[in-house]
Amino acid sequence: MTRGKAEPKVAIPKQGFVVAIDGPAGTGKSSVTRRLAEVLDFTHIDTGALYRAVAYLLMKQGTNITADPEDAVKLARSVHLEFKRQPKKNPANRIFADGRDLTDLIRTPEISMSASRVSAIPGVRAALVGLQRRLGCVGRTILEGRDIGTVIFPDADIKFFLTASVDERAKRRLAELEAAGKDAPSFEDVKTQIADRDRADSTRAIAPLKRAEEAVEVDTSEMTLDEVVHAMETRIRAQMGLALRGKKKT
Ligand code: DC
Repeated sequence: MTRGKAEPKVAIPKQGFVVAIDGPAGTGKSSVTRRLAEVLDFTHIDTGALYRAVAYLLMKQGTNITADPEDAVKLARSVHLEFKRQPKKNPANRIFADGRDLTDLIRTPEISMSASRVSAIPGVRAALVGLQRRLGCVGRTILEGRDIGTVIFPDADIKFFLTASVDERAKRRLAELEAAGKDAPSFEDVKTQIADRDRADSTRAIAPLKRAEEAVEVDTSEMTLDEVVHAMETRIRAQMGLALRGKKKT
């Protein structure tokens, strides 16, 4: 793990300890964040699910995102998005749009690509910033995304940036598809999809995917899920201890 230089802080009112986890798809971000939220008893906020939900609803209403970005902005502004925990379901953390559970409908490759396109529209990002801050401000939260440490919570208590080689990420994606009994594309096709989405997410004009300077970088290529969770949990607990000691002094 490497740690960069400190970044300028921006004042955003937050009540509890906030953990920011950013990085591209396939680095194990979602599994790691889910596990950390469980062991630390933090609220988990999967910000990618917000963009996926908007992309899904646009697809359902037949909007061409590239031709009609304003329709995407209108929808992102008007839809009511929320997370609810339903411990009996898998995953337990569910995303609802206007009261409808979309969790099982937003994980297709098509929605991944269109969520990436939707997320490059400045008005859509602007519509979702306030919601993400509100969700993260209440109590102890762990947020995963692309711009949590850079834009949503520049004053997060601890920031991580997860990476892994494209080959390793493609291997993991194929294993996931096979485990889910889905028709698996070729290894080369998966690699191309991953590289295309990385390029789109990191080269967009607004809030591109990039490591916050002070984020702890974790290359998960050669690590098991348990090892990643353990390493990050240790850093978070140490930081929580520091935060607590800092508070006691004042
Ligand atoms: O993490 P994910 O694969 O579910 O995210 C889907 C898309 O949403 C991703 O391609 C980029 C976008 N996204 C974003 O721009 N900012 C975030 N904080 C989270 C996701």
